[in-house]
Amino acid sequence: MQVLGVILAAGKGSRFKSEKPKVIHTLLGKPMVYFPYEALLSLDPIKVAFIVGHKKEEVISTVKGFPQADQKVVFFEQVNPKGGTGDAVRQALPLLKEHPDKVVVILNGDSPLIKGETLKEGLKKLIEHSLDGVIFTTILEDPTGYGRIVRDEKGHVVEIVEEKDASEAQRKIKEVNGGFYIFRVQPLLEALKELKPSPVSGEVYLTDVVKILHSKGYKVDTYQTPYWELLGVNDRRQLAEAEKLLLERKIENLQREGVTVRLPETVYIEWDIQVGRDTEIEPHAVLKGKTSVGENCLIGVGSILENTTVENNVEILPYSYISDSQIEEGCVIGPFARIRNQSHLKEECEIGNFVEVKKSTIGRKTKAKHLSYIGDAQIGDNTNIGAGTVFANYDGVNKYQTSVGNNVFIGSNSLIIAPRQLGDWSFIAGGSVVNKDVPPKALAVSRAPLRILEGKNPLLRKDKNS
Ligand code: UD1
Ligand code: CA
Repeated sequence: MQVLGVILAAGKGSRFKSEKPKVIHTLLGKPMVYFPYEALLSLDPIKVAFIVGHKKEEVISTVKGFPQADQKVVFFEQVNPKGGTGDAVRQALPLLKEHPDKVVVILNGDSPLIKGETLKEGLKKLIEHSLDGVIFTTILEDPTGYGRIVRDEKGHVVEIVEEKDASEAQRKIKEVNGGFYIFRVQPLLEALKELKPSPVSGEVYLTDVVKILHSKGYKVDTYQTPYWELLGVNDRRQLAEAEKLLLERKIENLQREGVTVRLPETVYIEWDIQVGRDTEIEPHAVLKGKTSVGENCLIGVGSILENTTVENNVEILPYSYISDSQIEEGCVIGPFARIRNQSHLKEECEIGNFVEVKKSTIGRKTKAKHLSYIGDAQIGDNTNIGAGTVFANYDGVNKYQTSVGNNVFIGSNSLIIAPRQLGDWSFIAGGSVVNKDVPPKALAVSRAPLRILEGKNPLLRKDKNS
């Protein structure tokens, strides 16, 4: 069955208290309105109409970045974003009228937990029971804020009553409207024509189509889902609640693919992140942005990966922070390492404790294991960078590059003043200040001579305590 989609995203979201449109606030790094769109995509819709209004430019530019947006998405503007959800759906009339014999799936843009699977089940029910509409509902102990499903003595759905408009008795109904609907287009078009503004709020409610369809003898039924699939995000507390639920879903997906996540309730992994099989993610890890992690890696306690590609068999020891970088196979990083700005670590590098690497390439099997700053450097293979080495890349005005060859040995506490070139097999003695280029195979030493003054330990001076 071919379907159309409509996503309501024009509302102001006043309860959210934000300058930014509510539906583009992010959950696990994705705009809220992406999630209902993703669920719809799994039905392979003919078109998805986004109803936009409040700050529409921001919503439109966000949605245009979604997968398949070029082929699938059409925008309709709701001039009065307080007109209500019925007024919003009416904006999509031109699309609906083109497909009177199809089915339309209408989703609230502020309800990110709906699953494609659930929509498919609802669609199946519509077809198998020859219904004209299916409303996705759930039972809530505390139904506050949701529209209530009103049934007659026989249990047939009669109408949806909005909380603002509900009587005392209706407010006690625990079955609520999730804000997701499937309708046959022709009956919906008939009902949309008859919608009138609520005398209480002045809004035109989409939910009123249920009463109209019922009165015209059309058949509308419900499809019940677990409560969390219908969670609507009206304020920041619900945003946090929805993000937590999505995170559980994300982690479950990773676990199913063979990823171990220790103390999963402490980690944060964004929606798009890929992690390979047999990788272990330790507590309090954060994986965000355009990050991917290969197979059989370790992401240690408290580590942060942002816009970073990690290949297979990489160990990231605790409390390392890696951003905008590429880590090749077999590297060992951390604990407490900082790698950033388009750094590229080639195979089997070791970057250890308190080492910062900025905009640098580190060659194969090169090691910098303790207390270093490596900035704007291209370093070859099998090179050793001793503890405390600093690449001085900045003279207060400009940044300069350093290139270090293969098999170089840089002794501890050396200062390499850029721009500099250190040739293959060069050797920098510990404590040197390297302010000239070093040719291949050369030894570079700069050291103030050490003086030994026999018996002159100042702590042992005779007059010390007098
Ligand atoms: C709506 C339903 C309610 C349901 C609840 C589930 C109506 C009248 N009520 O209430 O029965 O229980 O969702 O979460 O539909 N929007 C527009 N244009 C408008 C108003 C809203 O595009 O004029 C969009 C909003 O951006 C939002 C969605 O529609 O994405 C829902 O609007 P909202 O005002 O949050 O409706 P609720 O009061 O939550
Ligand atoms: Ca809502």
